[in-house]
Amino acid sequence: MPIAVALIVLALGSVLFHFLSPWYFTPIASNWGAIDTTIGITFWVTGVVFVAVNVFTAWAVIRYRSRRGGRADYQPENKKLEGWLLVATAGGVAAMLAPGLLVWANVIDVPKDAQVVEVVAQQWNWSYRLPGKDGKLGTVHPRLVTDENPFGLNAADPNGRDDLLVASPELHVPLGHPIKLVLRSKDVLHDFGIAQLRVKMDMVPGQVTYTWFTPTRSGTFDLLCEELCGIGHFAMRGRVVVDEPAAYAAWLDRQPTFAQVAARVPGNATAGQALFATCAACHGAHAEGNLALNAPRLAGQPAWYLERQLRLFKSGARGAHEKDTYGKTMAAMAATLPDEAAIANVAAYIAALPDTPAAPTIQGSIDKGRSHYATCAACHGADGRGAAATRAPRLQGMSDWYMARQLRNFREGVRGGNAQDTDGAQMRLVAGMLVDDAVIGDTLAYINSR
Ligand code: CUA
Repeated sequence: MPIAVALIVLALGSVLFHFLSPWYFTPIASNWGAIDTTIGITFWVTGVVFVAVNVFTAWAVIRYRSRRGGRADYQPENKKLEGWLLVATAGGVAAMLAPGLLVWANVIDVPKDAQVVEVVAQQWNWSYRLPGKDGKLGTVHPRLVTDENPFGLNAADPNGRDDLLVASPELHVPLGHPIKLVLRSKDVLHDFGIAQLRVKMDMVPGQVTYTWFTPTRSGTFDLLCEELCGIGHFAMRGRVVVDEPAAYAAWLDRQPTFAQVAARVPGNATAGQALFATCAACHGAHAEGNLALNAPRLAGQPAWYLERQLRLFKSGARGAHEKDTYGKTMAAMAATLPDEAAIANVAAYIAALPDTPAAPTIQGSIDKGRSHYATCAACHGADGRGAAATRAPRLQGMSDWYMARQLRNFREGVRGGNAQDTDGAQMRLVAGMLVDDAVIGDTLAYINSR
């Protein structure tokens, strides 16, 4: 009898949980209502069968429970009952499978006027490429991937010259227009998944997969990698912003073409020297850093990292948090750099300064730090020298007291909370694992030992 009661409670409880549960689909933002309907049908079919089987079992347990002198009745065939079960089962299975086939036929049939967007995945970043005015994407090859050409575009292909390169995890798409996503991966399996758009497709190195959707309401939607792709998988996040046409056109206008990126002149170190005089007041004549003034060592960092941070400070995406005292000072200084050329020039000057490691100031256990650093190494490199491909700056030989402060800032949300600072947001997720100052000290002691 307790078994029968348990089965009835299980069946009724499951039905109640389904209808009262706060966890259900996120409100849809694309044309794929048919996917929801299909899942709804499957819920109904499996739900009815689940309740029927459990209630029937409970009824049978009660009705045919053991009685003194009772005898079991053996019935080898029941053609009528078997016929009904066959029809009901076939109907249920068909009801679950047939709508899926219809929806899938739609998923693989992309509208002719769809706007093509290429999505490029790598451990643990997203970037995008759009065809230019010619409507054609240029050819790419993994062999052509370098720090300067992260998309691996073929410079000899005229179709690629006007391709728009979006070197950011944030993609914008126009409201109400069908979007065809062509997806490729540079390294391992990833998966492009956006819950509200009902879009989810694997990305396979060596292959180009595709899917499509039409956004039906504007807003910002989180893009998650939904394939376990290594230690930084959880931090592989992006955003898709669905814009009204005017806002989309403005965004599109800001994206550089491959030809513009390739023609970009590197910063002029000689021109940067005069600008650096302001920086030298705090960071030192050779950008070696000054603990007393809370100014970290800059020499040894690559120009792309210095440029990125200067832009973040200048735009207010970094150094605006009320608790970021020293960041605020730096934001005020970055504001004095008049334009992009000035940023590139001063970064070029600093990047060319002599590389003398900063003196360690932090004590900790190198052995304990080694295991913590394994996660950092995935992006910053085993030796902590940084990597342009993963957009990770150099750590080895840099000011350890400054890194300790920044790790605390990331962990506490003082840094990396601004929507424009996408790399900072990723670092904020990872810094959560450095639970206390002892762990930070051990990790930095290990970095100092490299
Ligand atoms: Cu990429 Cu998980």
